[in-house]
Amino acid sequence: MNYRHAFHAGNFADCMKHALLVWLLQALQRKPNALFVLDTHAGAGVYDLADERARRTGEADAGIRRVYAASPAALAPYLAAVDAALPRSPLPRGETTAPHAASFPPLAEGGRGAGGARELAQGCERPGHPLPLSPSREGRGDAYPGSPPLIRALLRPQDRLACCELHPEEAAALRRFFGSDRQVAVHQRDAWEALRGLLPPKEKRGLVLIDPPFEDRQEFDRLAAGLTTAAARFPNGVLAAWYPIKHRAPVRAFLDAVADSGLRDVVAAELWLREPLDPARLNGCGLLVVNPPWEFETEAPALLGALRESLGSGEEGEGWDLQRIADE
Ligand SMILES: C[S@@+](CC[C@H](N)C(=O)[O-])C[C@H]1O[C@@H](n2cnc3c(N)ncnc32)[C@H](O)[C@@H]1O
Repeated sequence: MNYRHAFHAGNFADCMKHALLVWLLQALQRKPNALFVLDTHAGAGVYDLADERARRTGEADAGIRRVYAASPAALAPYLAAVDAALPRSPLPRGETTAPHAASFPPLAEGGRGAGGARELAQGCERPGHPLPLSPSREGRGDAYPGSPPLIRALLRPQDRLACCELHPEEAAALRRFFGSDRQVAVHQRDAWEALRGLLPPKEKRGLVLIDPPFEDRQEFDRLAAGLTTAAARFPNGVLAAWYPIKHRAPVRAFLDAVADSGLRDVVAAELWLREPLDPARLNGCGLLVVNPPWEFETEAPALLGALRESLGSGEEGEGWDLQRIADE
């Protein structure tokens, strides 16, 4: 367990995963029924992009800062969610996360402090969803939210979030971040075991984000097995699983394994910044979605195209793809 997300927060892979995650959650919220969201590999919370670890890799410069600079219309809901997820006060230096509850009241429960929803710009609200586009925010690009604060910013009062994180320091930071938030549970617990222990949820509707660190070669196998477990326990749940694209062979083997596993209704969204030929480099990434909400396949191309436009440098082989892996 050497992986620390602070080195990678806000990189192109976070932008891709989180932009699609925001779309998926907002699509599920077209219906008023309560949602359960399980974030199996949650990380630490909010990441300070001025932190030495983030500066050492510079990955946010090629990620979220480029998306802010381009601010394409298709990614406005994602950027609004990022803004809404960040604490209003600066992060204390040396802390990965700031206390959540003291920093901002949950948006869905009545605004975000001074100005709140009233000062928000017009025109980007999805019908039926409480998250409007934030005005341009001072310090954009200084901090970046991990998946738990991003999901939390989108929860309605009837929804809840469970986060699992195995690393003791990351789990402790995440606990501090959420404090006594009653809509969020933080478990220091193994993700793969939690798929058995926490599913199915009583709400019977929701989303499972599976975002492993891919520190070893077995991770693709564990992910394929985890998807089967999650789908068996929560058959109508939306499952979203992130995977790296370094070179094609392991990705092809993974997608073939998923196709042969008996999972139904599976789509893979992929973005790559260059031809995926170098096995030592993160050349792209994918999000496998089981039970995609209605219109995912018609709306995801606009997101993927905007991500490519914002994040790509015109390298040879840059592109995106959306492919159906298994029919309904
Ligand atoms: C890629 S990061 C998560 C990033 C986060 N989902 C986000 O989007 O901001 C993966 C995290 O999984 C944690 N982790 C690794 N193995 C785990 C396991 N078996 N169960 C739970 N967490 C694990 C790591 O400590 C790390 O914080």
